[in-house]
Amino acid sequence: MAKNKITVVGAGNVGATTAHIAATKGLGDIVLIDIVEGLAAGKALDIAQASPIQLSSPGITGTCDWRQTADSDIVIITSGFPRKPGMSRDDLLAKNVEIVKSVSEQTAKHSPHSIVIVVCNPLDAMVHTAAKVTGFDPNKVMGMAGALDSARFSYFLACEFGVGADEIKCVLMGGHGDDMVPLPRFTCVGGIPVTELLSPDKIAEIIERTRKGGIEIVNLLGYSAYYAPAAGAVKMAEAILKDKKTLISCCAYCDAEYDAASHFVGVPAILGENGVEKVIKLALNDSERDAFAESLDHVKQLAVKVDKLL
Ligand code: NAI
Ligand code: 2OP
Repeated sequence: MAKNKITVVGAGNVGATTAHIAATKGLGDIVLIDIVEGLAAGKALDIAQASPIQLSSPGITGTCDWRQTADSDIVIITSGFPRKPGMSRDDLLAKNVEIVKSVSEQTAKHSPHSIVIVVCNPLDAMVHTAAKVTGFDPNKVMGMAGALDSARFSYFLACEFGVGADEIKCVLMGGHGDDMVPLPRFTCVGGIPVTELLSPDKIAEIIERTRKGGIEIVNLLGYSAYYAPAAGAVKMAEAILKDKKTLISCCAYCDAEYDAASHFVGVPAILGENGVEKVIKLALNDSERDAFAESLDHVKQLAVKVDKLL
């Protein structure tokens, strides 16, 4: 059977870490691409040289040449400016639209049958950009944010309960911003909803820390997170490449679902070999619906700004 081919665009913090995790898991042959001469080649060589120690696949190359990415099964787009302290994700929009537009054009040209996972911020707007520029089936273009935000929510809950992180199953919706919508009613510890186990005040405190999870790390490091974001991107790629039918929160195309009117926004969805195979429709209560509508409104406003820039 032919090996999967995965292109990771951007060999910076998120891109190189994504490539490293994917190589360690042996997900396929990896091409790491960046515009900075030598950066992708150097990081790919370093990752390949770890393979005898980690017993991982050495099938990784780094390049500036898009021709080497040809016929990839998955393209993970991490090329974009990250935020610095004092910046919001939305402040990155104008610069990152340009980058995501140009790499989406290259993706459509060299890997017309690929599935695209976008990581750049502002996430939902960059997924909208990639979908529009590639012209791919909308179910084949998606964004990684829910995996990260859910992991943060799960981690904070696991710390609170003193259980292993894999005991927590959580659902989170909306855009990747401070108005994201963690859903405690649908979040369980060992099958028990957290609303049965924690006070509303404690839940609100953990939700607030989850919403601010990105900026907490930016303020500590001076730049943005990358280990957990990369793990989230690889989890999505693995679900697709192995046709795992994984139910995960991600930025997916919604038509009639959640009154999203043809927008890409964070929802629970099933990922498999065809990309986003199904968006799960939850019966939200009034406050959940209002919070999602507010977040969706923000996502829609950024999509309008993108359309003006393209
Ligand atoms: P970084 O600055 O470390 O890496 C970005 C890389 O992209 C650089 O090496 C740069 O040379 C490269 N690049 C720029 N233009 C390019 C082009 N046209 N073609 C190929 N490569 C190009 O940034 P980092 O920390 O890796 O973050 C990347 C993006 O991911 C940022 O927009 C950041 O905000 C976003 N992000 C999103 C997360 C999410 O949850 N969705 C989580 C973490 C980061
Ligand atoms: C995060 O949430 C920067 O969006 C990125 O860490």
